Amino acid sequence: MSSPLLSEKKPVVAVLTVDDDFKLFRGNRANFRDIVKTGLELDIPVYVVTARDLKLSAKKVQGYVFHPEDKTWKKHWVPLPDVVYNRVPLREDERKAEVRRKIDECLRHESIQLYNPFFFNKWRLFDWLKKGRTTRALVPDTKKMIGPNTLDAMLQKYGSLYLKPVSGKAGKGIMLVKLNENEEKRYRLTLQGKRSRNVVFKTASLPALWKRVKSEAGRTPYIMQESIPLASYRGRHFDMRVLVQKTGKGVWTVTGVGARLAGPKRITTHVPQGGSIEDPEKLLSPAFGSDMTDFLISRVKSNALLIAKQIEKECGHTLGEMSMDLGIDTEGQIWFFEANAKPMKFDEPHIRKKSLERIFQYSQFLSRQPKHK
Ligand SMILES: Nc1ncnc2c1ncn2[C@@H]1O[C@H](COP(=O)(O)OP(=O)(O)O)[C@@H](O)[C@H]1O
Ligand SMILES: [Mg+2]
Repeated sequence: MSSPLLSEKKPVVAVLTVDDDFKLFRGNRANFRDIVKTGLELDIPVYVVTARDLKLSAKKVQGYVFHPEDKTWKKHWVPLPDVVYNRVPLREDERKAEVRRKIDECLRHESIQLYNPFFFNKWRLFDWLKKGRTTRALVPDTKKMIGPNTLDAMLQKYGSLYLKPVSGKAGKGIMLVKLNENEEKRYRLTLQGKRSRNVVFKTASLPALWKRVKSEAGRTPYIMQESIPLASYRGRHFDMRVLVQKTGKGVWTVTGVGARLAGPKRITTHVPQGGSIEDPEKLLSPAFGSDMTDFLISRVKSNALLIAKQIEKECGHTLGEMSMDLGIDTEGQIWFFEANAKPMKFDEPHIRKKSLERIFQYSQFLSRQPKHK
């Protein structure tokens, strides 16, 4: 049964991506297919469109629609969208002038609504959250990584730091550096190598440490961040992945909370790095007991909502969804690691289904909102 909201006028929804020389368009096919199928089920017209094909002055544009009968994507002439859901998959693509221009055109358009216009930058997120009275306490101490001396000063203060590329994803380029004054080689750097292997580099010399860090980082800007002693399950660290979306009434809500358990001895919890998908309660209960577990999960949810609101306020654009990585330390304190404006699909089936429906419920809400400058 469809909700009363969904029986009102249906918007035309376009999923925005970029074209690709070999496979028509970029992006996660399975995700786009699920989005189009959900649109069909809810009787909301939806197609995938590339930034190049989305010509806002035209009456009709070329969009891709998935055909379940022969499992192919076909190009059709379709009406201009009312709502554009930005799923340009790569930062590099979104940075291209012609893509930016198209997104800006949508933002300025008199009637078309576009949400989630840009990827977040890790550094800026911390800046935004530090400005919020309620979110300030959730962010680990974070600085730009500019040179050996500030790295050393921060190591003296915290003993252990995460070094992360500002535009990173899936654990790529993340390093862990520890200082142990009692050892001769007092600096210990752990890199996440290929095929689920860590590479460890030890040295007594700060310049040597810095040289190695720089050779890994290359030209990519990095942040350095105090290392949080994450709670663990059978000796492996875990953290929370929260999906926060707006509803058909335009209010932020938590669609689901999943947990990611790090592979043995791994420094991040990503599945491609040997991590696994788990139920939050299963991991939290042995560490905190069942009452505390319920409390922690409700805290995770309420904190995620505070974070989403603060990010939206500071970024100055309309957002409809984001995913977040939140850590819980051994004392039960909650910490923010990052938010992603292009959430990966959650594999937990109950989260997945709801998340797809919410895209359309929020799109419908947004299509009824007047556009302001
Ligand atoms: N400051 C930190 N303290 C402890 N663990 C961290 C810290 N920063 C990152 N991690 C671990 O590494 C993972 C990846 O970090 P994140 O900032 O989300 O990078 P990415 O963009 O590559 O996903 C986190 O989910 C967490 O498990
Ligand atoms: Mg992450």
